[in-house]
Amino acid sequence: MTQTPSQILDRIWVLEMVRVTEAAAIAAAKLIGRGNEKAADAAAVEAMREALNRLPFNGTVVIGEGERDEAPMLYIGEKVGSDQDGPAIDIALDPLEGTTITAKAGANAMAVLAIAEAGHLLNAPDVYMDKLAIGPGYPEGLVDLDFSPAENVRRFAEAKGVKPEDVMVCVLDRPRHEALIRELREVGCGIKLIPDGDVAGVIAVTNPEETTIDMYMGSGGAPEGVLAAAALRCIGGQIQGRLIFRNEDEKERARRVGITDFNRKYKLEELASGDVIFAATGVTDGALLEGVKRKPGGWFTTESLVMRASSGTVRYVYGEHRRKKL
Ligand code: FBP
Repeated sequence: MTQTPSQILDRIWVLEMVRVTEAAAIAAAKLIGRGNEKAADAAAVEAMREALNRLPFNGTVVIGEGERDEAPMLYIGEKVGSDQDGPAIDIALDPLEGTTITAKAGANAMAVLAIAEAGHLLNAPDVYMDKLAIGPGYPEGLVDLDFSPAENVRRFAEAKGVKPEDVMVCVLDRPRHEALIRELREVGCGIKLIPDGDVAGVIAVTNPEETTIDMYMGSGGAPEGVLAAAALRCIGGQIQGRLIFRNEDEKERARRVGITDFNRKYKLEELASGDVIFAATGVTDGALLEGVKRKPGGWFTTESLVMRASSGTVRYVYGEHRRKKL
């Protein structure tokens, strides 16, 4: 079957996205373990922005580093790409997902990016989001943010054909999750507490045989929720998210991106839809990806993941980057 030029371009974007996350990961990796979150983040942001600006598209950052007045680069609404007459693309990005992890040389930091045709990624404000995710192969609506955590574990366990004790739930290790953790302990399931990095935490539910994680629960960044949804849209699984507003200022941020229903429960397709492409490159070693490695000759290796919703293809890309070209 003959492909249209736009289908061919769509496939080419896949590798281009990897170039973008690779650039951010390599830049951030130079600051692993230096105790400087801001410097690591700034390096990743600058490298990602430069790489995006080399691409011939008309890109708009919809999930980025913050609002224009607080983020000098890759702010929400920033135009990127070298061809403003080219295809209109919305971009959700997190040049360094896991700034603290990187500063402390911990596990699972990544550079992350999702792109879709304009209008297919939720323009989420930088507030918290309550999240619930499970992997593919379960009936739609099996778990729900409106059920209690205990009920969700029980329903999931029954569908998987195991006891609640055999279910593992991933939760960000935060004081705000005290009640959630207590309730999960009462049900008897396992809890994988992660220090940071809930994009990787959510993606982990898609491969429980390897990760041992069946469910993701709890609140984290709303931008990370959209990025995780973009990934699940490509590989399958379910996610629900509900924005959490702690004050009037946060509600105002939501209004600015067009959100007026503050209690809305977002389903996967409302977070990310259409032919999404999701890419990530490991910064530090993690369950999903290996981190950037510095080799004796002064060059770097990277491991990246790139997937497309339209085909469901998942590719792991190993890169060798010669220093003089960086
Ligand atoms: P950063 O890389 O921006 O620091 O985000 C790390 C992270 O753990 C996210 O994965 C998560 O969604 C969010 O922070 C949780 O926020 P908080 O640290 O305020 O609980």
